[in-house]
Amino acid sequence: MSTLQAIRGMNDILPDASPVWQYLEGQVKAVLDQYGYREIRMPVVEPTALFERGVGEHTDIVEKEMYTFDDRGGDSLTLRPEGTAGCVRAALQNGLLHNQVQRLWYQGPMFRYERPQKGRYRQFYQIGAETFGIATPDVDAELILLTARMLDNLGLTEHVTLNLNTLGSSEARGRYRKALVDYLETVKDKLDADSQNRLYSNPMRILDSKSESTQALLDDAPTFDDYLDDESREHFETLCRLLDKAGINYTINPRLVRGLDYYSRTVFEWITDSLGAQGTVCGGGRYDGLVPMLGGKPTPAAGFALGIERLILMLETLNKIPASVFNTVDAYVIMAGSAAEEAGMALAEQLRSDVPGLRVQSHCGGGSFKSQMKKADKSGARIALILGEQEVQDRTVGIKFLREEKEQQSIGWDELSKAIQELI
Ligand code: HAM
Repeated sequence: MSTLQAIRGMNDILPDASPVWQYLEGQVKAVLDQYGYREIRMPVVEPTALFERGVGEHTDIVEKEMYTFDDRGGDSLTLRPEGTAGCVRAALQNGLLHNQVQRLWYQGPMFRYERPQKGRYRQFYQIGAETFGIATPDVDAELILLTARMLDNLGLTEHVTLNLNTLGSSEARGRYRKALVDYLETVKDKLDADSQNRLYSNPMRILDSKSESTQALLDDAPTFDDYLDDESREHFETLCRLLDKAGINYTINPRLVRGLDYYSRTVFEWITDSLGAQGTVCGGGRYDGLVPMLGGKPTPAAGFALGIERLILMLETLNKIPASVFNTVDAYVIMAGSAAEEAGMALAEQLRSDVPGLRVQSHCGGGSFKSQMKKADKSGARIALILGEQEVQDRTVGIKFLREEKEQQSIGWDELSKAIQELI
């Protein structure tokens, strides 16, 4: 019988890789903690209508990338392609938005039926943050500062650029959209096929078309700046000032529109050129219109999500993973003979109780002293604790240093916990 394979674009994260995932997630969570964000966990499946309404019917995500199916009761469900819509749904349903400010974060798998390639998968992981109830640009700045701090802690600052834009109010965007379509109609035949298709459904997305010829045509297009409403302009200028004061470098990119329909005013992306085509490692912005669109009272909101796989690829490519991340065992217990096996199990338990955080791997499954030593070495442990017949008789343990030039020591059972505590 042939063995079954995982679905294309959906990856197993194997034990050799998971220390890096844990390291990255730990770093990001520590920063979210520093800013007072609280975790929310949502289901990975939601009603299809949530994304149609929330993300937008004419986005790539909703038009061609969703995993949508009918459940046995005939309801149309979708594997979440992103976290924002579900977070708003959960916050509304559970009354988290009643005259309250919320700073929330979430993590987990998202699903998009995209063409898999390096940095682009069909199941991928995001960590996202969303804020509710704050209309002022200080929180836009906070979200950006938070992401900047996290990238800095990971050693990636030199390798990323912050792109920033404002999409203005929905009225301003409506007026601009009309002017843009009027212009693009005059050059319609010269647009790439994708952009022609988007001309009436989602013309703003043409602005960040990857086609060079389309980009050249856009040089003569009306600029959004001429349509921007005063309040949005002021919002954006304050944000830029706050970022300047905080020493954050950014590039204002008037063609940055992002691929989800819910944004208004601020949008931003952290981009790297160290990953090839899939260079956006984090994206976000303000979405003041989404809560009412999903049935809530008008509530200002802003957030971001970062792509975990892409950050991991960056850490690997740029050699930014601290070696200690891979050390998952401190002490490996080697036991020769049945008396040693019995005493060893009890000693390992004792150590785990006495020394908080100590990672002790006991050898299981027997085997020669030599083969156990090999396993100890392979485990990455710093020390091997050796118990043979003689040691059991003497009630001692041999401590062998596996990574440093140091004499082997012999320690009595009663002093072992204290000795290990001092060593590690
Ligand atoms: P997004 O730009 O669609 O935004 O996704 C955020 C990040 O997820 C991207 O910058 C990228 O790093 C990662 N990502 C997206 N698609 C894939 C993929 N197929 N494979 C691997 N990584 C991927 C959102 O999802 C918004 N919900 C962000 C947000 C939160 N805006 C406001 N609040």
